Amino acid sequence: MKTQELIRKIKELKKAKNAIILVHNYQRPEIYDVADFIGDSLELAIRAKRTKAKVIVFCGVDFMAESAKLLNPAKRVLIPDVEAKCPMAAMATAGKLRQKKTEYPRAGVVAYINTNAATKAESDVCCTSANFKEAVEEVSAHEIIFVPDYNMAKYVQTKTRKKIIPWPGFCVVHDAVDPKAVKKLKWRHPKAKVMAHPENPEDVLKLADHVCGTGGMIKYAKTSKAKEFIVVTEEGMCERLRREVKGKKFYPAAGACQNMKKTTLEKVYACLRDGTNEVKVDAAIAEKARRALDRMLKLK
Ligand code: 13P
Ligand code: SF4
Repeated sequence: MKTQELIRKIKELKKAKNAIILVHNYQRPEIYDVADFIGDSLELAIRAKRTKAKVIVFCGVDFMAESAKLLNPAKRVLIPDVEAKCPMAAMATAGKLRQKKTEYPRAGVVAYINTNAATKAESDVCCTSANFKEAVEEVSAHEIIFVPDYNMAKYVQTKTRKKIIPWPGFCVVHDAVDPKAVKKLKWRHPKAKVMAHPENPEDVLKLADHVCGTGGMIKYAKTSKAKEFIVVTEEGMCERLRREVKGKKFYPAAGACQNMKKTTLEKVYACLRDGTNEVKVDAAIAEKARRALDRMLKLK
């Protein structure tokens, strides 16, 4: 089927099945064209909780679709490719976290939304790239085990008086960013502002004018007087920024997330048509994980 025909058929199916399609910023541009909403992890979680549609098709990676199911358990949540998994989320298992908690019995736990439900269930509160500083302050304990992103934990340590206990997890895309490549881009585009995701290593974040998640990048690019930006996050974000912020230039400084790119229009169409790849979460785990996610949604 041709792209335009697929897009038309997906839109028809959405109506027929009372479904919405939620799309993360890193998805392929053609997936944007069938979206009801495109956003960052926090915005997508909020949309998933609020929707009245019967079915949610989640175009992102495993933990995002799982979070949508946790926040709206009565809905059917479908993921177009079950192999679209975030490697960083797999770096913090619930078993290892339980072990860490016994090593630090007085510590609270903040779980980045890039974790699986069983790990969230072991946590006090979840966070995203948009609210990790607030989440750390929300927990009353002075010591905080921050899972799973080491780089984000190191960054949050510079913003709080609490003692952050980092976890040795990392994003394969951001952790591979070379500060020399960012410096080169700065040299080539001297007027450009650097926006960097907090999943980047410390030596990359030092080069940034603004550190924020993907939703924050759209706000910053819209409100900044600058006309050019070096975008230190997954390369697909540049296309999203170009569509959202007209008349400004965006230069990518990071690679592609292969897992995010596993979603294709063909797979969206097939899972919507056949109702396949439904996300399921064990009820006991879901109840505890939901508590940590709901607490995050109440953060200011
Ligand atoms: P955002 O919440 O900033 O969109 O980040 C999600 C993610 O997976 C970053 O790698
Ligand atoms: Fe996971 Fe990194 Fe891909 Fe985000 S970009 S989904 S953190 S691997």
